[in-house]
Amino acid sequence: MLYSEKVMDHFQNPRNVGKLEDADGIGEVGNAKCGDIMKMYIKVKDGIITDVKFNTFGCGSAIATSSMATEMIKGKSIEEALKLSNKAVVEALEGLPAHKIHCSVLAEQAVKAAVKDYYDKNGIAYEPETLCGGDCACCHAHD
Ligand code: FES
Repeated sequence: MLYSEKVMDHFQNPRNVGKLEDADGIGEVGNAKCGDIMKMYIKVKDGIITDVKFNTFGCGSAIATSSMATEMIKGKSIEEALKLSNKAVVEALEGLPAHKIHCSVLAEQAVKAAVKDYYDKNGIAYEPETLCGGDCACCHAHD
């Protein structure tokens, strides 16, 4: 079978879909390969991501990876969330077909973009390279 049961589950019943009206950070990223877009909302309290939601005009793999990514960062510290790689999300989903790996990059980038927005809004300093927004060539290193 092309997709694991976990991918199908998260695609058919995605977790944390929607919008947070009172979000502390909002990240919007686009996938250079397919043009799909993703929006991620985070709520932060004392350095912990207390809530997270996402909206995407992405494919099924983008939906499944974002759903899994939101579950993996909810309740975690920002530092831990930033360490979440698309590879870890794909592993948690028990794999994706090779030509769909690029879809998982969208989720990782959206988390980083949301944290960047949170940092910018609160005047928190950060190293730009730790929060790549997704429009640079470095992200394709994940492919
Ligand atoms: Fe665009 Fe999957 S094909 S995110």
